[in-house]
Formats: sequence, C-alpha cells, structure tokens
Amino acid sequence: MSGTFPLAFSITSGKGGVGKTNISVNLAISLARLGKRVVLLDADLGLANVDVLLGLTPKKNLFDLLHGASLHDILFPTPYGFSILPASSGVSDMLALSTGQKFELLESVSELEDDLDYLITDTGAGIGDNVRYFNLAAQERLLILTPEPTSLTDAYALVKVLKQTHNVEHFKVCVNMTPNEKEAKDIFTRLHNACDHFLSGISLDLAGIIPRDTDVRKAVIEQLPFCVGTPDSGAAKAVSQLARTITEWEVPEHLDGNIKFFWRKLLFRES
Ligand SMILES: Nc1ncnc2c1ncn2[C@@H]1O[C@H](COP(=O)(O)OP(=O)(O)O)[C@@H](O)[C@H]1O
Ligand SMILES: [Mg+2]
Repeated sequence: MSGTFPLAFSITSGKGGVGKTNISVNLAISLARLGKRVVLLDADLGLANVDVLLGLTPKKNLFDLLHGASLHDILFPTPYGFSILPASSGVSDMLALSTGQKFELLESVSELEDDLDYLITDTGAGIGDNVRYFNLAAQERLLILTPEPTSLTDAYALVKVLKQTHNVEHFKVCVNMTPNEKEAKDIFTRLHNACDHFLSGISLDLAGIIPRDTDVRKAVIEQLPFCVGTPDSGAAKAVSQLARTITEWEVPEHLDGNIKFFWRKLLFRES
C-alpha cells in the first residue's frame, strides 16, 4: 500500500450468496494478521450478517449511529484483531436510507481516519440504491463472481450501472467457489469480454481465486471464520493470498464522484 492513508474498498456482487460476507470477514482477519488496522463495515443494511459469521452479538449498530449513538459506541472489537461496524437485521428503515443519512454515516466513519489502514465495506447484493452508494463511496471495488452464469450476468449488470450512472471504471475481481483455476479464469474472461464489447473504458483485474471448499460451510455453521478454524484449508490459504495482493494495491490519487468528498476527508485530512 502506498503512503500512509487508509484505503476504503467494497466487497460487492450483483448476485446474492456468492460469498461476499465470508470473504469480507476472512479477509479482515488475514489483513489484521499482516499487521494492518482494519475495520469491517457491514453495509448489507437490513440483512446484516457479519456479526453472525463471527459468532458475536454487538448491542449497538449503524441504526443507533443514525439515532444519536457515537461511532465509538458502535465500533465493536472482534477477537481476531479487527473491529466491525455492525448493521441491524430486520430493520426496514435501514433499507431505504435518505441521502442525508448516508452522508451522515460516511461522515461518522471518516472519524476513524487516524486509526486504520483498511476500511472494508461488505455490501448487499444487486444494483439497488444502497449498493450503488457504498460502491461509489469506496476507492476500490472487489467484485465477487462465481462460475455460475447468473453470477456473471448479475456482475455485468452491476458494472454497467456503476459505469453508466457514476462513471466507475475500475474493478478488482475475485472468483469464489470455483472447482479449479481454469473455470475461474474462464468466467473472468467472459466478464472481461462482455465489458469490452458493450461498455467502453472498463478495467477489470483478477485479484483472487477462492476454491469451493466444504470448510466454508462448516465455518458458517460453527460461527467460527475458516481462517481461524481451518487455517490450512484451501479457502483460508486463498483468502490469505488475496490479503497479500491487496496490500500491494495502490491508493488511487484521483477520486471520481461527488460522494467521495467524504472519503477525501478520510484520506487526506483536509482540515
Ligand atoms: N468458497 C466457498 N466454498 C463453499 N461454500 C462457500 C464458499 N463461499 C461461500 N460459500 C457458501 O455460500 C453461502 C453464502 O455465503 P455469504 O458469504 O453469506 O454470501 P453473500 O454475502 O454474498 O450473500 C455460505 O453460507 C457458504 O456456505
Ligand atoms: Mg452477505
């Protein structure tokens, strides 16, 4: 990572159930193990499950933040060397945040600027308002794909909407649940070709490949992240490798998009 500024990146997908939350949690652990200061923001508002995968039960969450609690009231340390900003499950208010509330949320998070190296945002699926917003607010986007055709079409739809509405052009890609490396590369190439043919100016970079691994499901059931419970599993090794790759990402100098004003504050401390 260049410089001393934190990097805010989202973990996102068009299709649900592709492994975003599992990857977010285990990536946070892997980056913490590399000595990085990490906060994981659960931005799957209304359907939150970062805390569930970690087996934790934070009392306060982003809902409280929007109703008077301070950021430090809701920042919840995990036993794995990083903290989470938990969302709330089943609170429909969170599903349709007003623009003012979204600004308020990001402004609050920018208070963390001195205390972190990576802010990871685990988004919901789809191309809805919240997903677009959190992807736009991030400096990098890690798009999660699986070898399933629906994952490909939905990923393409997300890339297309972010490009057409906000001119977002750079995406990192991670293929999850792949039976082998060849299938991962094939699906990545198909996305790459579709973007080349139908959208101009998109750059996609294959950042990681995570195998389909039965230890992931076990970890979910046991509420113990696989990087902790089965550190020698294929999935854990692949996520550790992805974490090392991420530490080599450059922090982009130019931020594209209005909302990034907030991340500019987070990054460059203008005051
Ligand atoms: N690499 C993998 N191998 C096997 N199963 C996986 C893998 N990654 C995710 N899964 C399964 O997919 C399910 C959905 O994962 P989750 O992280 O909740 O996805 P999302 O956040 O994208 O909805 C999990 O319950 C887990 O069992
Ligand atoms: Mg999820």
